[in-house]
Amino acid sequence: MLFQPALPDRYYAMSDAELAGAIADRHAQLGDDLLILGHHYQQDHVIQHADLIGDSLKLSRFAAQEARNRGTKYIVFCGVHFMAETADILTDDDVTVILPDLGAGCPMADMADYDDVVDAWDLIHSVLGGNWNGRVIPVAYVNCSAAVKAFVGEHGGACCTSTNAAEIFGWALAGGSQRAQDEECIKVLFLPDEHLGRNTASRLGLLTEVDEVAGRGPSATAVWNPKLEYGGLSEHQIRGAKILLWAGHCSVHMRFHPEHVDRIRKEYADKGGVTVLVHPECRKEVVDKADDAGSTEYIIRRIEEAKPGSNWVVGTEIHLVKRLALRAASRGVNVRLLGESHCLCVMMFRINQQHLLWTLDNLAQGRVVNRIRVHPTIREPARRALERMLTDNGHAPSVRRTAS
Ligand code: 13P
Ligand code: SF4
Repeated sequence: MLFQPALPDRYYAMSDAELAGAIADRHAQLGDDLLILGHHYQQDHVIQHADLIGDSLKLSRFAAQEARNRGTKYIVFCGVHFMAETADILTDDDVTVILPDLGAGCPMADMADYDDVVDAWDLIHSVLGGNWNGRVIPVAYVNCSAAVKAFVGEHGGACCTSTNAAEIFGWALAGGSQRAQDEECIKVLFLPDEHLGRNTASRLGLLTEVDEVAGRGPSATAVWNPKLEYGGLSEHQIRGAKILLWAGHCSVHMRFHPEHVDRIRKEYADKGGVTVLVHPECRKEVVDKADDAGSTEYIIRRIEEAKPGSNWVVGTEIHLVKRLALRAASRGVNVRLLGESHCLCVMMFRINQQHLLWTLDNLAQGRVVNRIRVHPTIREPARRALERMLTDNGHAPSVRRTAS
């Protein structure tokens, strides 16, 4: 996590309405030079100022296309650090990307440390041996550092988001950019979200029976724990696994448990039933008990299409769920959060009106604060991994469930 210096006191003396008014004035003053992007997990006070709102995939596309179309000079990214890095990688050199609070990192992204990834790669290949005639294709969830994206780009892999993970897995398992002669010889190293990886493997029908019972014999997936020697795996497990899953997780989505789904179903049994919709960063036991799983954009779409009078329980970040519930209520659709605890992403929550105004005040005076700049040596390979995700994923296999 980067250090964010304290803001001048005057920002904390302003009311929400004063902050909103001042931000709107600066926004108008900076005109087309400025593009404010907002992730769906941002708080309402912030999202009201965003020019474009989206999930990780949509925002990557916006950053790449819209900045060019609009002639944007500054992107202020209301999201977390890896998203701002992604925007910097995908935009031209003359676009400056700003993160209003440098402390807004993503703990899951930090779980894939660059040096650990390099060590894992070397160790896995040392186990597979020089005579192994297959390939390991790395796939990185965009929730990782630019350095890890660069590693993936340099080693023939691609990024993915929760929207297109199944398509990118399909692309990788077919051999990536170099189609495989024998798909049996391809392994995928997926990082850093063990749960998205396992849920995607499950969606593609890749899990074997032994995957369902941890620790019983060789399986299609094996979890690589970077804190343990040889990832905590035996040679047999590394050789046998089709998908190696990095031991990382999102602490927000880990707060949902299968028991929450059971309780909700009981509660709604005599109230016309309920549809449970969760994000694929949740553990597989939750996804299996839910009716459907998909990225934030997918969840939004399902709720927008819901019939009046229907009941929905959603397992993802609280700010999005509250906004969805409010909008849906006006159409007679009932939406509430899964579980009892408020699943707040404290990192997304660091972005507030005070920090947004401070960055815009500085821009209006010709000063750039909190610029996120990816080093040129890793920019190109990281861009390759992202561009493969955005353009080179045409080998999607058929999937069991419909979420996208
Ligand atoms: P998506 O935006 O891909 O749904 O991912 C959610 C998330 O956790 C972002 O950090
Ligand atoms: Fe990271 Fe989870 Fe927050 Fe997304 S919701 S930014 S994965 S901690």
